[in-house]
Amino acid sequence: MMQEELKALEVEALQKIKEVTDERSLQDIRVHYLGKKGALTAILRGMGKLSKEERPVVGEVANSVRENVTAALDAKKTKLEKAALEAQLSKETIDVTLPGRPVAESGPHILTQIIEEIEDLFIGMGYEIKEGPEVETDYFNFEALNLPKNHPARDMQDTFYITNELLLRTHTSPMQARAMQHSDKSQPVKMICPGKVYRRDTDDATHSHQFTQIEGLYVDRNVTMGDLKGTLDRFSKAMFGQDREIRLRPSFFPFTEPSVEMDISCKSCHGKGCSVCKHTGWIEILGAGMMHPNVLEMAGYDPKEFTGFAFGMGPDRIAMLKYGVNDIRHFYTNDIRFLTQFHHG
Ligand code: DAH
Repeated sequence: MMQEELKALEVEALQKIKEVTDERSLQDIRVHYLGKKGALTAILRGMGKLSKEERPVVGEVANSVRENVTAALDAKKTKLEKAALEAQLSKETIDVTLPGRPVAESGPHILTQIIEEIEDLFIGMGYEIKEGPEVETDYFNFEALNLPKNHPARDMQDTFYITNELLLRTHTSPMQARAMQHSDKSQPVKMICPGKVYRRDTDDATHSHQFTQIEGLYVDRNVTMGDLKGTLDRFSKAMFGQDREIRLRPSFFPFTEPSVEMDISCKSCHGKGCSVCKHTGWIEILGAGMMHPNVLEMAGYDPKEFTGFAFGMGPDRIAMLKYGVNDIRHFYTNDIRFLTQFHHG
């Protein structure tokens, strides 16, 4: 009987569809039962032998078999696709509880931090920040600072010359002359200039062929040594602590008269003497003095009318003292372990 054959085919097909676990085999089943050369077609070929009455009955059964098998195939196809998608998604799951990869934090270099701290301090006292060229003329680096050619004090600063007249500045002091030269002579000049300087030194724990300086300058009528001392005292206390004392010792610089060196009291021993201060109780911080009349005059100021003070300090040395750094080369060799110690937050 054709009806029974059809029913048996349906049962068999549905069972296979139920068992199949992958989309490829499911497609094979579809072809096997419903394809042009498939099992259903094969059975229906025998329809011709049926009587007129039987044909529509068998036709109806055949249609329902086709519909049921098709529906089962489609349903299974959807189910397999969904399972495949879920498998893929679960494989690609992101574990949001895993700790992230750390992003390297950066921050200003310790010397930049020191320079900015000093800048803020002097801005608070009415100073302007100025910058000058690192490739400087012999005139500004030396001559305008009362250091004519062949002056023996030029030996104090071993110089990288580029030509006879051009050099890498050995200090930030040329900015004294530059600032005064370009100033409106009716107004006081009050500036600090931070920057890099260069010397023909052999690098060791306390020398670097390139380091930083900050120059300070105040020119006006009636500027006195008392103003210089008050300014340096205020700077030192803000920078190193309110309990630190300063003292000025006579010294020599060609561009200042009188010249001084400023020390601060040693923090480690409070003036009693220890290895940090070489048993003197004091630590040398900077050079300073009242501006030499020649320097004022060369910059176009009448030294009978104007006076001024100047000072020069080294942020490298200040950072070394403040943080107990024992080798200046640490500032320039970019060891991240050293540099990141000074990054906060
Ligand atoms: N230019 C000096 C140096 O490099 C430092 C200095 C000393 C600067 C005295 C000054 C000063 O302005 O008045 O050693």
